[in-house]
Amino acid sequence: MAMSIAQFTFFSRAASSSFLHRTNARFNQFTFSTPFSTAAATCTRKKNGRLPVMSALELGGVKIARDDVVRDDPTNNVPDSIFSKLGMQLHKRNQHPIGILKNAIYEYFDANYSNKFDKFDDLCPLVSVKQNFDDVLVPADHISRSYNDTYYVDSQTVLRCHTSAHQAELLRDGHTHFLVTGDVYRRDSIDSTHYPVFHQMEGFRVFSPKEWEASGLDGTSYAADDLKKCLEGLARHLFGAVEMRWIDAYFPFTNPSFELEIYFQEKWMEVLGCGVTEQEILRNNGQLDSVAWAFGLGLERLAMVLFDIPDIRLFWSNDERFTSQFTKGKMGIKFKPFSKFPPCYKDMSFWINESFTENNLCEVVRGVAGDLAEEVQLIDNFTNKKGMTSHCYRIAYRSMERSLTDEEINELQRKVREQVETKLNVELR
Ligand code: DAH
Repeated sequence: MAMSIAQFTFFSRAASSSFLHRTNARFNQFTFSTPFSTAAATCTRKKNGRLPVMSALELGGVKIARDDVVRDDPTNNVPDSIFSKLGMQLHKRNQHPIGILKNAIYEYFDANYSNKFDKFDDLCPLVSVKQNFDDVLVPADHISRSYNDTYYVDSQTVLRCHTSAHQAELLRDGHTHFLVTGDVYRRDSIDSTHYPVFHQMEGFRVFSPKEWEASGLDGTSYAADDLKKCLEGLARHLFGAVEMRWIDAYFPFTNPSFELEIYFQEKWMEVLGCGVTEQEILRNNGQLDSVAWAFGLGLERLAMVLFDIPDIRLFWSNDERFTSQFTKGKMGIKFKPFSKFPPCYKDMSFWINESFTENNLCEVVRGVAGDLAEEVQLIDNFTNKKGMTSHCYRIAYRSMERSLTDEEINELQRKVREQVETKLNVELR
């Protein structure tokens, strides 16, 4: 079994079924039926091209306002805590583990493909439902489209939940070799490897018929062989001489699809998902006779292992004791924990209702406690004779940076209880 850390395989069949297993009772709480206007206009377009970029990052450009993203409207489920992460762009900080890792991957592609890959790292994370799902053939009933799993700005606009959301537009713009790095957003549980914002890199390469015709292979086999060679080289570039294996997988956008695992620190670890792009995606976007490969990798999960970072919240820390440990261009550094403050556990029990979901609970906890919430864990679950179901959750509060006082924690827990009752409409026990 591969080690499973940090969210990544949202779209693989195996993961979505375990995902389903974890969340099936929660699926129907929001409806998708009401047509609303889109927020797409909040992203400006480059004058010289068609790609949207974060307006806040344009010189002299207009900032994305909070009201564009956070709205008191049933089709919107973006909290302020998520809005505050827009534009943080950890992947653009050269001294940050996420930026250092991005640059190390760039280095591999530049060296092996003579700078042929175009690099994008400032594409706007606000995308249409079409870009995020339809353009990459995510089925209409796929769990990832639910309001429980994805942040919707309105019924037609989401915070991208994967960098694959940009494949189609980049193809249409004529790019044949590209890397897209960006922040992606998913509603999720709370623990040391899950955070509602993380970073992915997408890779894409198109081949024209003359590239595979001479090989004697068909286009798909040629692309699959090339893909595997490329990614094995990348894994060696990052991890050294490791043992690797390929696992057959499923993604809506590729066929065949694979996952690469490496044997690292005595465990098999999933590194990335990839495959040969579905012909329909190429055809729909102006690449009629070509074949292509694509891959997507989660930067946090790799950085946690490569830099020995034990908790995903640390990536967001501004504490100098964290930030000062990393150096531009240096991959070998291992993080030294500067101190470990004790966690404080608080339990709460309530009778759930039909629309209760753990992701919604976690959103409330994060809304109150922010990064002080370390873990939310279901520790008891039973149904009484009347058919009422009770859940007991244990919340671990811990700061990475200081000791928390009893008063502070009690106040956080009081607010969590209050909001769980009012926002989730459950009955506290
Ligand atoms: N988008 C996938 C995810 O977030 C990752 C992925 C898998 C990207 C396979 C790809 C791919 O381009 O071919 O789980």
